[in-house]
Amino acid sequence: MNARITGTGSSLPSKILTNADLELMVDTSDDWIVSRTGVKERRIAVAGEYTSTFASEAARRALSMSGISPEELDLIIIGTVTPDFPFPSTACIIQNELGAHNAVAFDVSAACSGFIYGLSIAESFIRSGKIKKALVIGAEVLSRIVDWSDRNTCILFGDGAGAAIVEASEELNGILSTHIFSNGSHWNLLYQPGSGSRNPASDRSIDSKLFFINMEGNEVFKHAVKAMEEAAMAALEANSMKASELSMFIPHQANIRIVNATAKRLGIPMEKLFINLHNYGNTSAASIPIALDEANRQGRLKKGDTILLDAFGGGFTYASAMLRWQLDSNQV
Ligand code: ACO
Repeated sequence: MNARITGTGSSLPSKILTNADLELMVDTSDDWIVSRTGVKERRIAVAGEYTSTFASEAARRALSMSGISPEELDLIIIGTVTPDFPFPSTACIIQNELGAHNAVAFDVSAACSGFIYGLSIAESFIRSGKIKKALVIGAEVLSRIVDWSDRNTCILFGDGAGAAIVEASEELNGILSTHIFSNGSHWNLLYQPGSGSRNPASDRSIDSKLFFINMEGNEVFKHAVKAMEEAAMAALEANSMKASELSMFIPHQANIRIVNATAKRLGIPMEKLFINLHNYGNTSAASIPIALDEANRQGRLKKGDTILLDAFGGGFTYASAMLRWQLDSNQV
């Protein structure tokens, strides 16, 4: 049994935070942010909006495109580092909100690689014959763990969610391959020190700002480019393909310089890249499924296209997925 994507969806907060807004909050400038990151604006959740708010809306849109009902789902996986709560999983909350009573539901913690990790798990469950229909979501509200007084990090991130329905198929095409990798030797270059068992909530941990993202930006940058190249090469080699044969490359939307450097090392021309980070910033696990859904709904993906997804994130984690697109434009 093979696996294919039969629907995509995404959901973003309506509140927009521009670089001009950030100029009023920290010592930065639109010029600096655009030249170092490519980001022009990002979406930010307001009071009453949570990771599950965007995850459930993205899921409903993906279900609607695929034409299946929530009761038909066997599996729900959410990649997130900003769940509604440490427990229960946000996936269980979504299962309840959708009425997907027959689905087993769990979260995956793989930072920005979370969506491809989820896709890989869903693909493996389908290939083994264990399940037939899965909902895979990447969803984040990073704005709640960003230190809005730290100009090194607050300019980078945004909120949102993307989703895909993955179904069993007897045809060979669909998800051609997934590769997932971990390298824990650099876990402390990008992490959230507080909220777990090492630094639980206390006056000290709150005063020391341990609940915010902690990042060595320069180091992360270097590792990101190498790891994304490695993950992409694994996908190309597994499918005996050259980069020039790709129809589209959808990298994790971290930073335009990381994306350009990765594409250059792989020899992928700019016109094959899908980029939307200027509008949304880095939405971690949500970035690839939001981009995939936008490309799909904009009619940029044609049946038979070969699409490479490529991610890198805290952990470190990195991952790739090669897709042969199966949706007709009239199904979108
Ligand atoms: N506005 C103005 N100046 C700033 C800002 C800002 N927002 N932030 C930092 N600076 C200053 C620094 O203080 C420093 O000043 P100094 O020279 O006086 O000390 C100067 O700009 C250069 O700082 P660097 O950190 O060297 O700048 P760099 O070119 O490396 O860009 C950045 C920083 C954008 C964070 C970059 O390292 C990066 O993108 N790293 C990857 C991080 C990332 O994407 N993380 C997301 C999670 S992982 C992932 O998704 C792949």
